[in-house]
Amino acid sequence: MALRKRLKPARPPRPARRLPQALIIGVRKCGTRALLEMLYLHPMVQKASGEVHFFDRDENYALGLDWYRSKMPPSFRGQITIEKSPSYFVTPEVDIYRHVISINYLIIVESNLEDVNENKVPERVRAMNSSVRLLLIVREPVTRAISDYTQLRSRATPSAPAHALSSGHTPHQVPDSAKPFEHLAISPDGSINVAYRPIAISLYHAYLLRWLEVFPREQILVVNGDQLIEDPVPQLRRIEKFLGLEHKIGRKNFYFNETKGFYCLRNDTTDKCLRETKGRKHPRVDPAVVTKLRKFFIQHNQRFYDLVGEDLGWPE
Ligand code: A3P
Repeated sequence: MALRKRLKPARPPRPARRLPQALIIGVRKCGTRALLEMLYLHPMVQKASGEVHFFDRDENYALGLDWYRSKMPPSFRGQITIEKSPSYFVTPEVDIYRHVISINYLIIVESNLEDVNENKVPERVRAMNSSVRLLLIVREPVTRAISDYTQLRSRATPSAPAHALSSGHTPHQVPDSAKPFEHLAISPDGSINVAYRPIAISLYHAYLLRWLEVFPREQILVVNGDQLIEDPVPQLRRIEKFLGLEHKIGRKNFYFNETKGFYCLRNDTTDKCLRETKGRKHPRVDPAVVTKLRKFFIQHNQRFYDLVGEDLGWPE
């Protein structure tokens, strides 16, 4: 009997939906989609196809982990499932704005989270899996802000003024999406408009502080989004190592598409570029405004470098 059992053929491995072991938590417009698609080139990686928004939307979180699991792709044991929802990093934003006190160019972010954070994304993530690996992709903050603005503007429909009217605007009010970046990023008194979302989200250190109160630094890998654009392979090597994966993604997986101006992806069966919404042409921004913003970000970037223990070398 025992012999018969031993001779029984091994069951073929069966795929199952599993909770993610790694998350891309942000930052929006820093290459989160490119990063996910690139990692998916690895045979041991599975990805959730859309942004699930489980941890940042109360109505989804209320549906529980079984619901979240049902949104994951089938995977084999040993494979890593990755989900990305860039708003995880910044939620809740309003509370961060409330705690940003602007003194000329110096901004102090108070990190008293006990009373401000009703929607605790990092805590929720930890409750799912305290050893989850977190990927945070960042990009030079001013470029990121302009990319964010470009996206918001492109999403505004030609009927935007009509919409503005129906939402109580006067006919003379121009919706934000139609205003030049310079007018949104800089207040009439010449100060930096930190309440403008594309600027606020680029204050990476303010958001990272919250995550570091919940997760040890080693559990968060900071991916350089500018370098991912320039030359993806070295960044991907770091990530493979961080995720405990064998090195599989290499130069053979990429080719530079001159028309798009970005690397496109290649596996054994297909070549694929990211959609046209990724890699948009940015509007020209007054160089004096770019310089002013870069100057404003110097000390914020330094705080971020201090938190992550690495100088990302963003221009000043
Ligand atoms: P732009 O459209 O401003 O150039 P996200 O996916 O987080 O929204 O990020 C979008 C950004 O990904 C794009 O911003 C683009 O610069 C960047 N990106 C990085 N690698 C890319 C690639 N291979 N193809 C297209 N976009 C890429």
